[in-house]
Amino acid sequence: MKEIERFKALVVYWSKTGNTEKVKEAISKGMRKKGVTPTVKKVDEAEEEDLFNYDLVCIGAPSYEFLPPPPMMDFLKRKLTLYRSKGYIKPCAPKVQGKNAAAGVQLLKDALAMENAGCFAIVLEAIPDRVAQIITDRLQIPTIGIGAGPHCDGQNLVLHDMVGLFDRFTPKFVKRYANVWEIIQKALADFQADVKAGGFPQAEHSFTMKDDEYEALLKQLPK
Ligand SMILES: Cc1cc2nc3c(=O)[nH]c(=O)nc-3n(C[C@H](O)[C@H](O)[C@H](O)COP(=O)(O)O)c2cc1C
Repeated sequence: MKEIERFKALVVYWSKTGNTEKVKEAISKGMRKKGVTPTVKKVDEAEEEDLFNYDLVCIGAPSYEFLPPPPMMDFLKRKLTLYRSKGYIKPCAPKVQGKNAAAGVQLLKDALAMENAGCFAIVLEAIPDRVAQIITDRLQIPTIGIGAGPHCDGQNLVLHDMVGLFDRFTPKFVKRYANVWEIIQKALADFQADVKAGGFPQAEHSFTMKDDEYEALLKQLPK
C-alpha cells in the first residue's frame, strides 16, 4: 500500500445546476480528511491530465437524458480512444451488466465492497432480476432498482420517462403511466390558436392601472 501522502488522486467533474459540484466538494473533503490532497478539475480543464498518473481517479457528472452531458462524454471518448490506441485498456462493458455467472459474482463483490466502504444504499441499474435478488438478499443496506427486477428493496424510474415527457427513446424497463407530452403539445397548440384568434389574453389575465394615473401618464408622454 502506498503511503497516504504520496497517494495521487484526481477528481474530474461536470455540473450544470451545481449538484455534482457539491458531490465533488464532499469527495474532495473526504480525501483531505484522510490525508490525500486531490487534484480537482472541471472537465474542460482536465484535457492535459494523464489518468494513468494517478492512483485513484474519480469522474463525476449528472445524467441528462440517460447520459452524462456532451463535455463529459467527449472527454471520456477522447481518453478512451487514446488509452485504447496505447493498449492500456480494453473496455467492453455490456449495457446490461451481470448477464453471466462471473459478472454476476463480480457485481455482488462490488456491492459488498461498497457496503463495507460505508454506502447507505445502492442503485442497481439494468442487471438481471435474479442477480439483483441475490445482491439484495446479501446486503444489509437497501437496494434501489431501475431495470433490475422486482426483488430490490425500492424502485426508481426517471420522471420524464414514466410520465411520457421524453419520447425519443423508451428503455425496456420503463413503464409509462401517463402521456404528458401529448397533453403539453395540445396545450401549446391551443395557446397558439387562442393568441392568433384574439382569445388570449383577456381582461381577466391583464393588470390594470387606475384612470387618473392613466390620464396623467398620457399627459406625461413625450411629444
Ligand atoms: C432534462 C433532464 C433530464 C434528466 N435525465 C436524467 C436521467 O436520464 N437519469 C437520471 O438519473 N437523472 C436525470 N436527470 C436528473 C439530473 O441528473 C439531476 O438533477 C442531477 O442532480 C443534476 O446535476 P447537476 O446539478 O450537477 O447538473 C435529468 C434532469 C433533467 C432536468
